[in-house]
Amino acid sequence: MTDITSVLSENRVFPPPAGFSERAHLKSRDDYDKLCAEERANPEAYWSRLATEELHWNQPFHQTLEWKPPHARWFIGGRCNLSYECLDANLDQHADKCALRFEGEPGDTRNLTYRELHAEVCRVANGLKALGVTAGDRVGIYLPMVPEAVIAMLACARIGAVHSVVFGGFSAQALQERMNDAGARVLLTADGGWRKGAVVPLLANVRAAMAAGIPSLKDVVVLRRVSPQPLELEKPEVDWHTWVKTQGPECPPFWVDSEHPLFILYTSGSTGKPKGVLHATAGFGLWTKLTSRWVFDLRDTDVYWCTADVGWVTGHSYVTYGPLMNGVTVVMYEGAPTTPAPDRFWDIIERHHVSIFYTAPTAIRSFMRLGEEHPMKHDLSSLRLLGSVGEPINPQAWIWYRDTIGRGRCPIVDTWWQTETGGILISPLPGLTPTKPGSATLPLPGIHPEVLDTHGKPVPPGAGGKLFITKPWPSMLRTIWGDDERFTQTYFSEQPGLYFTGDGARRDNDGYFWVVGRVDDVVNVAGHRLGTAEVESALVSHLNVAEAAVVGRPDELKGTALVAFVTLKQGVNASDALKAELAMHVSREIGAIARPDEIRFSQALPKTRSGKIMRRLLRDVADGKVTTQDTTTLEDLSVLAALRQEDE
Ligand code: WT7
Repeated sequence: MTDITSVLSENRVFPPPAGFSERAHLKSRDDYDKLCAEERANPEAYWSRLATEELHWNQPFHQTLEWKPPHARWFIGGRCNLSYECLDANLDQHADKCALRFEGEPGDTRNLTYRELHAEVCRVANGLKALGVTAGDRVGIYLPMVPEAVIAMLACARIGAVHSVVFGGFSAQALQERMNDAGARVLLTADGGWRKGAVVPLLANVRAAMAAGIPSLKDVVVLRRVSPQPLELEKPEVDWHTWVKTQGPECPPFWVDSEHPLFILYTSGSTGKPKGVLHATAGFGLWTKLTSRWVFDLRDTDVYWCTADVGWVTGHSYVTYGPLMNGVTVVMYEGAPTTPAPDRFWDIIERHHVSIFYTAPTAIRSFMRLGEEHPMKHDLSSLRLLGSVGEPINPQAWIWYRDTIGRGRCPIVDTWWQTETGGILISPLPGLTPTKPGSATLPLPGIHPEVLDTHGKPVPPGAGGKLFITKPWPSMLRTIWGDDERFTQTYFSEQPGLYFTGDGARRDNDGYFWVVGRVDDVVNVAGHRLGTAEVESALVSHLNVAEAAVVGRPDELKGTALVAFVTLKQGVNASDALKAELAMHVSREIGAIARPDEIRFSQALPKTRSGKIMRRLLRDVADGKVTTQDTTTLEDLSVLAALRQEDE
């Protein structure tokens, strides 16, 4: 079998906008090369210098790294606290600066200064202590995107409790499974949250999960968010406000060991139950702080908005820890992007003077679909940097993002990373990296990604292969909670000692990385392995296409046939002529090898709640099979049923 054939060619290059570089933290290729050289010359000295400069050490570490593959321990012997880094460390300079600028979906707002956030976190930390929570205990968090979600995470970090946030869109069953796996002792939740004008029934889900059984759970604290009336609570539930009211606004940070677990976050694999990705304190803190500053070029005056929910790793690394450690103002929005109108996001940017905006390609594509009149209604001149994360961004969406949202002024950082990597590993540095639409560009200083073939040999420029990280980095996951064997199997068995990302990628002649998607989304067509993301990207570059997902179907002749599921832009009529035109279009863009064998129009695509297209489900649909797979992470089950009917 040959390696992944990478066929997309994108030749546009955008240098950093004039004026951006002079003011940036990292200004020139020289700055980048120096850091890389420093690390290459002496990795331990490099990481030790950064950790000493960036974090406050209650007790200094005596060893930078112990690497016994697949297990790494960083900054051994040190003691620190990330709640201290986010809060206390900012009180000298930023006590009265706005830390969180919250807007609820109904339009209610709440601002918390660093001083106020510190006090709130301390109250909740004291409340947790009053419930008997001690360092190492697991605390579940199942909340909407409200300030209490951030407060809860930081309160756990303050006392050394391990938080495990479960996305508010997950079901009772998903919650129960995760709480049991983590062995959570306390759950912090709310009566509900607002989404598209309706209430997400969090408390009802918690009760269903409790009824199904979470033996470790002793206390449930319920925030009143949506009920007009005081809550009628059942044992063991307590009211959040009653709980914190009596707690003092000071709580000394508990200085934890560098390797003390900070959080468990569940992420789905292609098969089996979700994996509890475990992150440790110091390494995660160091890298999220540094990458926030380097990649988003954070400065004192920035108003920063990352649209991710706290239920995803992006909400941990780049809503909560990274930006707050840098002392910026973080915007937090509770609800849907189109409520009450399709311009809600642009309205938020205008009213709050957002300067840095970080979102996902799936959101960008849906905004493209809604039409540019919505962003065009707003003054977006406060923006100075745009970010993307979550999947490969197709060049079409990249250019739209740049022109329609950034108005051609803002650099775009396409940040590649994973729940497991804790922080961004491959990304442009906005002051110095010329960007190419669709490429996450270069590794950050100290990170060593490689594209390898099936024998573990580096592939030449232009050739596809599997993406590995060949050296440990501070914010790497430490293990899978309760299943170290699965940790080794999943990430370190492909090439012993090397971290396998599960992604396919290639490097171009400039050394830029082009991630083509998960290798399980790679298909072999007539002896060529194609990243389905590239075919999708070609499809979406057609004027009439809003979104596309491409999967393989077993085929006698070719091994695998390509089946494309295509959602058309509003107002476009589906026809056989259009199907033929799209197939031709792909042939033209990529070549006949990538020409879909079958195109199906569909109103919607099956997605996870974080917006990832679930191609494994589409594979069954394409193959005419009834799914026996796990669909618990599917956002809307009816999409699957509809796809089958559209089939008939
Ligand atoms: C997978 C990780 C990272 C936080 C959100 C997702 C894909 C992510 C990019 C990007 C191409 C990307 C990869 C990766 N991915 N960012 N900029 N370009 N692909 O976290 O759920 O752990 O997913 O998302 O396939 O492996 P996650």
